[in-house]
Amino acid sequence: MGSPGQLTWVFLLVALTSALCRGSSAAAVCNVVDKQALLTFKSQLIDNGKFLDPWKATTNCCTWPGVTCNSAGRVTTLSLLDTFAFPNAPADAQLKVKPGLKGAGSSLGALKALKRLEFRNVVFSFAYPIPRELGSLPALTDLVLIGTQCIGPIPAELGKLKSLSTLLLDGNRFPDGIPDALGDLASLTSLQVANNQMKKIGSERITLLKNLQAFDVSTNLLSGPIPKWLGKLTLSDYIQLGQNQFSGPIPGELCNIRGLKRIIIFETKVTAIPPQIGNCAALEELVLFDNKIAGKLPLELAKLKKLQRISVSRNQMSGPLPPALGDLPLLREFDIGQNKFSGPIPANYGPFDEDELSTNFSGNQLSGPIPKPLSNLRVAVFRPGNPGLCGAPLPKCK
Ligand SMILES: *[C@@H]1O[C@H](CO)[C@@H](O)[C@H](O)[C@H]1NC(C)=O
Repeated sequence: MGSPGQLTWVFLLVALTSALCRGSSAAAVCNVVDKQALLTFKSQLIDNGKFLDPWKATTNCCTWPGVTCNSAGRVTTLSLLDTFAFPNAPADAQLKVKPGLKGAGSSLGALKALKRLEFRNVVFSFAYPIPRELGSLPALTDLVLIGTQCIGPIPAELGKLKSLSTLLLDGNRFPDGIPDALGDLASLTSLQVANNQMKKIGSERITLLKNLQAFDVSTNLLSGPIPKWLGKLTLSDYIQLGQNQFSGPIPGELCNIRGLKRIIIFETKVTAIPPQIGNCAALEELVLFDNKIAGKLPLELAKLKKLQRISVSRNQMSGPLPPALGDLPLLREFDIGQNKFSGPIPANYGPFDEDELSTNFSGNQLSGPIPKPLSNLRVAVFRPGNPGLCGAPLPKCK
């Protein structure tokens, strides 16, 4: 995903779904209220690529690009996407809301059967908030506004979307973060608010969401300690906090999240891995590269029998590599490059994957023979650095 700064004025529309209706002889006839809502929205858009030309008052809206209907002719999907899926669009085409309007997009609140609303890189030009009328779409399950350049605050009305399961709001501008009201979204499974210039995460009430799988506030302006209350979230997959200014130790409370499979905190300023990491029993991936983490690899990591990936490259970690990690049955990716680890690579380490970036010992002060299961890895996995290492793929030990 590009940052908002990279988004030019060029945005294109795609209709992945129009064929569904157009192709079938039994296309439902568009509901007049829904058609009028879409035409009103169209009238608010600059569309010099003429993507919405087929959106005409004289035609059935169930055949329009980007629109699908149910058998009653009510619009169930509105999906306006960007250039990737529309390769034949002219390069200077754009689809964005005209400047200086009142309530851009508010007519969409009339689409009462809408289940999925998806805009990607169709732009509100950092001049408009998310229309609060979207909070009165009772059937909505998926709200995807990625790269839409909406401004904050996130309207509290969205908390009324009782059916909402996916809320993806990356690439907008919400400095105050997540409002209290989103704690009411009882069906929500996925919440992404990355790349939004957020200065605070927002309301602790989101810990009331008991069906969340994933939580992503990466690529924002979040600073200070990672809030301990994040440990009250219920997650069954991952927490993504990377590319922020967080400082201080990673709070051990994160491992109160029982089902957590992946902790992803890269490119911040966090300083320590807490010993409570051993309580993260479901953990499969620990991704902490490019931070300011000092100290040893905690021995508690050896309790995590599901661990597949440790990535702590480009930190300030030191000390020996714990032999107990070599007994983790699923560990395949071990990226500790550019730290100050010393001593031998334990003989029970490996085999590890050799894909780019997955395993890297370089830039440390390791010494002694490279274990047999690692001898198939490339020289670049161990060099530069580690002058005391020897044996395949490096020169023989003396
Ligand atoms: C390991 O990291 C070093 C330093 O960043 C890099 O030069 C080397 O290419 C990396 N090795 C692999 C196998 O990616």
